[in-house]
Amino acid sequence: MASCILFLLPLIFFSSLSSAAGPHALVAPLTKDSRTLQYLTRINQRTPSITLNLAVDLGGRYLWVDCDSSYISSTYRPARCHSSLCSLAGSDSCGECFSSPRPGCNNNTCGVFPENPFIRTSTSGELAVDALSLHSTDGSTPSTPVTDPAFLFTCAPRFLTRGLAVGAVGIAGLGRTRVAPPTQLAAKFSFSRRFALCLPSTPRASGALFFGPGPYNFLPGIDASQSLLYTPLLTNPVSTAGTYSPGEPSYEYFIGVTAIKVGDTVLPLNKTLLTINKKTGYGGTKISTAVPYTTLETSIYKSLTSAFAAALANVTRVAAVAPFKLCYDAKGLGSTRVGPGVPAVDLVLQSKAVFWSIFGANSMVEARDGVLCLAFVDGGRTPRTSIVIGGFQLEDNLVEFDLDSSRVGFSASLLFRRTTCSNFNFTSSA
Ligand SMILES: *[C@@H]1O[C@H](CO)[C@@H](O)[C@H](O)[C@H]1NC(C)=O
Ligand SMILES: *[C@@H]1O[C@H](CO)[C@@H](O)[C@H](O)[C@H]1NC(C)=O
Ligand SMILES: *[C@@H]1O[C@H](CO)[C@@H](O)[C@H](O)[C@H]1NC(C)=O
Ligand SMILES: *[C@@H]1O[C@H](CO)[C@@H](O)[C@H](O)[C@H]1NC(C)=O
Repeated sequence: MASCILFLLPLIFFSSLSSAAGPHALVAPLTKDSRTLQYLTRINQRTPSITLNLAVDLGGRYLWVDCDSSYISSTYRPARCHSSLCSLAGSDSCGECFSSPRPGCNNNTCGVFPENPFIRTSTSGELAVDALSLHSTDGSTPSTPVTDPAFLFTCAPRFLTRGLAVGAVGIAGLGRTRVAPPTQLAAKFSFSRRFALCLPSTPRASGALFFGPGPYNFLPGIDASQSLLYTPLLTNPVSTAGTYSPGEPSYEYFIGVTAIKVGDTVLPLNKTLLTINKKTGYGGTKISTAVPYTTLETSIYKSLTSAFAAALANVTRVAAVAPFKLCYDAKGLGSTRVGPGVPAVDLVLQSKAVFWSIFGANSMVEARDGVLCLAFVDGGRTPRTSIVIGGFQLEDNLVEFDLDSSRVGFSASLLFRRTTCSNFNFTSSA
């Protein structure tokens, strides 16, 4: 039986690789969970197919699901030790399971380390393949679902779903590995290795996650893939994962912030904190959906809050609402097309001309009725990464990760273009 599976797997793998006229791109919805502030996506898996709710972890290594809770599928196959699937996932370990065989518990399978960044826990899991399907898209609406009959993922124990939004059964890790969905789907369906996130700013309407090239159209006919600004993706040579092998790089998305401005004021910052220390992996800036608000090393945080407070010296401050420290009476702040009227926070990138501007809608959060707080949090004195750009700052911005060109494109607030991430037309045209 085992040898039969061994011979069958490569066949399935290659037949899906060579499928002609594949989809142009794929799309899945993104929702915001109001209780945990996690962003969730929906993907279909197994035979017969069921819909999975998965939390999105931008820098995660693989897609993993809880296989302890009645995993039923006729197309589930564990990855046999030392097979090509194991090497694709970077696993050379070989595991046994001392209970009756079922998905997640097989002998002679390679082990991997699924991680839940929301509770900072990783554990061992079984590498496996199963059918996975997503809607194809021309960039405007979802159309026919397409299926990868042997999508490589990780089976994790149920306890790893602790801390996830109600209904979430695993995590879609979108990191820079060969097996995370962006690269795996691009290889299977022959489109370019890029994907784009457009996170919703409200729990009431879905944003969109695209795999493959643009256009990325939002009603009324705004292509958010146009006029993106690009910045190089940087490599952190030291893994930031919970479990890793020596010499393994980080699979997260690092970019090079070189300065921060509040309005026209350049913040005094310790520049060492802004660069990645190649030996220790400390420092630098990454983008993450595992934190709800941008998290800054303490001295950067203090520099930002004092410049912001000075710029808003005339506005009535009110008692802080944790975890925020700088809060205002909303009545004192005007309102603009891009949210509360406050100075922009600019993350200056590879040159003075390339900066990521964060306007009121992405810098001020209504922490309590009538109270708007600066939506950045203090990450402590010695965080691994000095600046972690979090979910709130990404909402209603389209962010494209182009892995072939190692760059990140960002749109600035779509509110400027009179649309939002919740305006993708999810009415299927198929
Ligand atoms: C794995 O093999 C061991 C013996 O080596 C056996 O006790 C166990 O039941 C097997 N587990 C599975 C899941 O087949
Ligand atoms: C700047 O940050 C680095 C890294 O944390 C630290 O070693 C150094 O002492 C800091 N410099 C100043 C002037 O605070
Ligand atoms: C603050 O108020 C003072 C006096 O009312 C005024 O002169 C100053 O321009 C105001 N500053 C800002 C930043 O609005
Ligand atoms: C959304 O897409 C559907 C299917 O293509 C189409 O019938 C409908 O008119 C679109 N809605 C809008 C508002 O454009």
